[in-house]
This record gives sequence, C-alpha cells and structure tokens, in this order.
Amino acid sequence: MSHHYPTLESETDFDGWRQSARALILNNISPSDVTWRVQGNSPELFEPSAIAPPSNPHGIFTVPAKFVELAQSTILNRDPERFALLYRLLWRLRGNPDLLMVATDPDVARIAAMAKAVRRDEHKMHAFVRFREIGQRETSRFIAWFEPEHHIVELAAPFFAKRFADMAWSILTPDACAHWDGDAVAITAGVSKAEAPSEDRLEQTWRSYYASIFNPARLKVKAMQTEMPKKYWRNLPEASLIKPLIAGAERAASAMIANAATAPHKSQKRQTPITKPKHSASADTIQALREEAADCRACPLWKDATQIVFGEGPQHARVMLVGEQPGDKEDLAGKPFVGPAGQMLDRALEEAGIDRSKLYVTGAVKHFKFLARGKFRLHQRPNTSEIRACRQWYERELRSIKPELVVAMGATAAQSVLGKITPVNKTRGRLIDLEDGIRALVTVHPSYLLRLPDADARAEQYQHFVEDLKIVANLLRASNAA
Ligand code: URA
Repeated sequence: MSHHYPTLESETDFDGWRQSARALILNNISPSDVTWRVQGNSPELFEPSAIAPPSNPHGIFTVPAKFVELAQSTILNRDPERFALLYRLLWRLRGNPDLLMVATDPDVARIAAMAKAVRRDEHKMHAFVRFREIGQRETSRFIAWFEPEHHIVELAAPFFAKRFADMAWSILTPDACAHWDGDAVAITAGVSKAEAPSEDRLEQTWRSYYASIFNPARLKVKAMQTEMPKKYWRNLPEASLIKPLIAGAERAASAMIANAATAPHKSQKRQTPITKPKHSASADTIQALREEAADCRACPLWKDATQIVFGEGPQHARVMLVGEQPGDKEDLAGKPFVGPAGQMLDRALEEAGIDRSKLYVTGAVKHFKFLARGKFRLHQRPNTSEIRACRQWYERELRSIKPELVVAMGATAAQSVLGKITPVNKTRGRLIDLEDGIRALVTVHPSYLLRLPDADARAEQYQHFVEDLKIVANLLRASNAA
C-alpha cells in the first residue's frame, strides 16, 4: 500500500485539509498511510515526495457539524500533529458517528483541548493587544506587536476591526500581520519584532489607566498572573507597573497587620460561630468556574466583548450582589462594578455600613453588550435569551458561594435570581425565600440612579437605595449576633 503526503498551502489551510481528507477517506486510505505536510516546511524531510494524490471520487461522506467546527479551531493550534489527529478522528467517525460525544476518548479529548487552547489564545489576544500610535494626525496609524501562541491572527482580527473601526491599525506578529484601513482586514506575512514601534505617548495613557483600575484591596497575585500570564507582560506598557503596584499593596497590608487589632464592640462579637452549610465536594470553586467561563460561548455576546467579567469576592461570602452586565470599563478591566455604576454602588455600600470586600459581586450577564458608535460603545440591555444562556453561571456561583442573601439590583438581575420576569417595584425591599435557606432582596440598579435627570429625584432614590442596603447590613449584623 503506498504512503500519501497531502500538502497544505499554509499552517492554517483548513480548506486544503478538508479537501484532501475527503479524498483520502473516500479512497479508504487509513490514517497510518498518510503523512501531512505544509508547503515550504523542510521539504527535504519528506523525500518520498510526489505520489499522486488520491483521485477525488464522487461519494457522500457527511460529518457532524460539530466536527467541522472543532476542526476549524484545531487547525489553528500550533501542534504539528493536529492534521493527522483530525484525520484519525474523521476516520473513526465513519464507524461511530457519535464518537464526539465520548469526552473520555483520547482522540476526542486531545482535539477538544487543542480547540480550547486556540479559543483561549484568541481571548488573550483580544485582551492583551496594545496599540501604539505612530505618525502624525491624518497619517497616523496604530500599531501593535503581539506574539500569539497559536495561529490565531486571522481569527482574532475581525474583533479589532469592529472595536477599532474608525482607526487605521496593524497588528504585527511573527506568523502573520493583520491590517485595517476602515474597509476590510488584510493579512500579510509575519514580521520580526524589530519592525514594531516600542515607545510613544499612548504608552503613558495605558499606564495611567491601568494604575487607576488597580485596586490593592482586591489584589490576588496568582489570579492576576493566570489572567495575564507573564509571557504577555513584555509587550504591555502597564506591565512595568505591576511589580511596584504589588509591592505597594504588600506594604499597605503589612502596615495594617502591624497595627494592633482593636477589640470588637460587644454587640459585634460572635457568640456562636456561624456555621455555613458545608460546601459539597462537587461544588466548583469560584476560581475553577472563572477559568471555565472564560471560554463561554453560550450566547453571541462573547464575540464583541473584550473578555468575560466574572464575579469577584470571597469564596465564603455571606452576601452575593447581582447586577445586570458589565459596562465599558468593566469589560476592559475584567472586573465587575469598577465604572461609574460601581462608584455609585461603593458610595451607597459605605453609607449603609457594608464592607464591599466581604461581598461576592457579580452580574446576571457576564459579557458586555453594546452598540459601537464611533469611539463609543453604547450599553445595550441584554435580552431574555442572553440572560437565560448566562444563568448557568449565576446558578453555579450560587452553589459555590452558598450565601445567606442574594441582592438582585435591577430588573435583569431580578429575572435571573427569581427565575422569571419580575418588576422591581413589586418586590423591592422584601426578603424572598429562595431554595436551601437562601433569601433574596430586590432593589434598583445603581446605574438607574445615574440616569435620573432630576437632582432631587436622584437624591431621594439614592437614599431609598441606601435604605435597601441597610436591610442587608442589619441582616448581617443580626446573624453575626445570633
Ligand atoms: N453594571 C452592572 O450590572 N455590572 C457591572 O459590573 C457594571 C455595571
């Protein structure tokens, strides 16, 4: 039996792979008789060269749509075995069309992991590309240098075309470069790092922005490094701030520890320890959920968002605060309630006597939904199918945290928490029993207060919001004293 050497035009030649794979399968050529190669890659290694490719007989061979989707992502993985592995899976699918459902099958698991690594890399590229402006005004262009782990430039480029539609930009990488002039994305060959500009005024803007969103009170170095792995640091202007900011946060923490603790007021002393229900061994930790959710594709909102904005707060928080969806600032920072609504919330919590760092804060929908208008991204309310698609994460957060109280802020959060459309005014300020002894409180969303045009109404509604939060504060105090 002769050996076959299908040759692809490039590392990402999915159509070439598909065509060859189809011809090979229809000619009944076993995976062990096939060696895949890419044009221009060390041809001397493949000396038995030009055996005629198998003819392309007419025949029908259908594969599940899921396989095509998986293969399109997997082809972009840098693993040199991907073409052969995909062909082997295709070969095996012939006899077992349900094979893709068998998650424990080694071939299925490996391909799924490769596809996932590609999606993760795409997500990292969306989050970590930093443009630098070169040239003067009318002729200026924004250039970014990025080193992706996989062959994802073409896949990731439409995101930047949408996000930065009104600027001329190029993203340079060692594999391929993407360029945008307001019309279409063009892909050219890769370049060396020397061709990317390194310093300019945007760098300082990015650094100040990053310093402003950095909150030492919520610093978790490990989680931060998982989200922003060190290998990306060298291309990020803000990276030079990370070390000093961490050092500063550590100094602040040491100063707090050095100060002698004051005895708690008698009424705040816990007489009996509060025993929270034990977390079942199968409940995921928030960190595990956060990692899993990073690749969520349950609704289309991930496509335009920079990243998922998952909940944040202590694993054993007693109160969970649920908002609507991240806004512009949250989408960029990857943290909930750090923009204007977050500032309003922080103020009201403080006035109600609640320490935000003790709460778990999340949103009903975890990707930013917006309408791009030039430089601006206008907030769009999530619809019911998006809220439903995202509810799995809220449910799993709830199972993981097991809070005593869930505070739903606004109609979207109330819909997710109560499981049905419920006008805020109908339920506001009342404690509602959920399952497992957890209670819910519905109130307005802080951005509702920001939108009120009349200053008096705003002040009045703000006070009402603080009063609702005081119910939370009282409840916490009461269960502390119990
Ligand atoms: N609004 C929300 O509901 N969540 C955020 O994180 C920010 C604004």
